[in-house]
Amino acid sequence: MTVVTLAAPDDFDGFRAAVRGLVGTPPAAVTWQVAGDDAGLFGDAAPAGDAPPLRVPKAFPDLARRVICHRDPERFALLHQALAGLQARPKLLDDAADPLVRRLDMLDKAVRRDVHKMRAYVRFREVPDAEGEHYAAWFEPAHFIVRLNAGFFVRRFASMRFSILTPDLCLHWDGIGAEFTPGASKADAPDGDPLEATWKTYYASIFNPARLKIASMQGHMPKKYWKNLPEAELIPDLIAGAGERTRAMIAAGGADTSAPVAEAPAVAGPKSLAALKAEALGCQRCPLWAPATQTVFGEGPADALVMLVGEQPGDQEDLAGRPFVGPAGQLLDAALAEAGIDRTRAYVTNAVKHFKFEPRGKRRIHAKPELPEIDACRWWLDAERAALKPRIVVALGATAARALTGRAVTIGRERGRAIAQPDGSELWITAHPSFLLRLPDRAAAAAERMRFVADLAAVAARVTAIAQGA
Ligand code: URA
Repeated sequence: MTVVTLAAPDDFDGFRAAVRGLVGTPPAAVTWQVAGDDAGLFGDAAPAGDAPPLRVPKAFPDLARRVICHRDPERFALLHQALAGLQARPKLLDDAADPLVRRLDMLDKAVRRDVHKMRAYVRFREVPDAEGEHYAAWFEPAHFIVRLNAGFFVRRFASMRFSILTPDLCLHWDGIGAEFTPGASKADAPDGDPLEATWKTYYASIFNPARLKIASMQGHMPKKYWKNLPEAELIPDLIAGAGERTRAMIAAGGADTSAPVAEAPAVAGPKSLAALKAEALGCQRCPLWAPATQTVFGEGPADALVMLVGEQPGDQEDLAGRPFVGPAGQLLDAALAEAGIDRTRAYVTNAVKHFKFEPRGKRRIHAKPELPEIDACRWWLDAERAALKPRIVVALGATAARALTGRAVTIGRERGRAIAQPDGSELWITAHPSFLLRLPDRAAAAAERMRFVADLAAVAARVTAIAQGA
């Protein structure tokens, strides 16, 4: 019997090195174990050195990299069996009816699901340390996926210092390098922070009792993850009260008057735009964050008089991480310049901070954000507004107008004039630059462009008047 001891439960490199030395050894004659799991029982048997090369189809390493993260103690032996089988049958992995292939596929799917759940349900809490802002999260993965998932979290939260603590392994990112340390216990993890109460209020406010589908909700957000999600504490009560709230909504003509009001500015107001931006990088308030490259937050000087609000980042904005840098942004820049507004003096943002798209081959086609996505993202828009306190807010298009007013807006009826806001600012509504880009008729496009510039020129006149103290 050959015994191979791997350094860690997800030690793919160790596994690969070991199987290379096991060519010719029947899989049944090998025992796999992980250091620390009764390692002393069998002792270490080093695999042989000079072995002939293995035939490994392209798909195998990626499959093995995931399968090795499964908790099934037989995973190494199964992968070894598959490798041995592949030497005689190079197309073995294509045989979906083969019991070994089916078993590997099940393990692979379970690991992929777990990877996705970790991406969806890790919730960071702020735990500042001696070096400043630091975020920590506690998560209990079903499998050994922390190392497999590390690249995702590092890319997504590159500008944050963070730790993800799990019982198996902990990942730490300091903005420069990643480090892994042994597993931790839940007691090491932070338990709630000042934002948590607001998170709950907010979740309660966007929970729509009339759309409740309990089975589907639990399918997407399995109960075992609830204990580490601040908002999940509310779910049983919200479900219990959903029927009554729905009946009240119907009686009130569709309005949910019982929903708690999310007061984002009360919490977010004191925060700086830079702090909000850092927090928004980890936003998972709606599902749009998952396929997008990154959060595209607003940008501009903290004392800007004017805030320009678009719909959502497009393909180029998603890649660049900045609003309005693609074709619509170029049209906007030109129109602002013509109208006499200096873009570098304005704060530019979007109603929705993640790119919503449908993949079509290699292309990503813009998809319109739905109401729940706009509502979920209004948290950030309100917070930006509270931090910036702009004197003029310009809604570019219907989505921005919806997010800023809370109601459906017909642009043609409300454009080109100041709409007084409760906080003393003025809301101006105009078209979205992408609308102008989409008009096929050149004459119509030119006319619309003139109206767009005229709307912006009216805003420019108000900016001048405000700056002069009018
Ligand atoms: N369209 C928008 O609404 N916003 C952008 O940032 C880019 C295109």
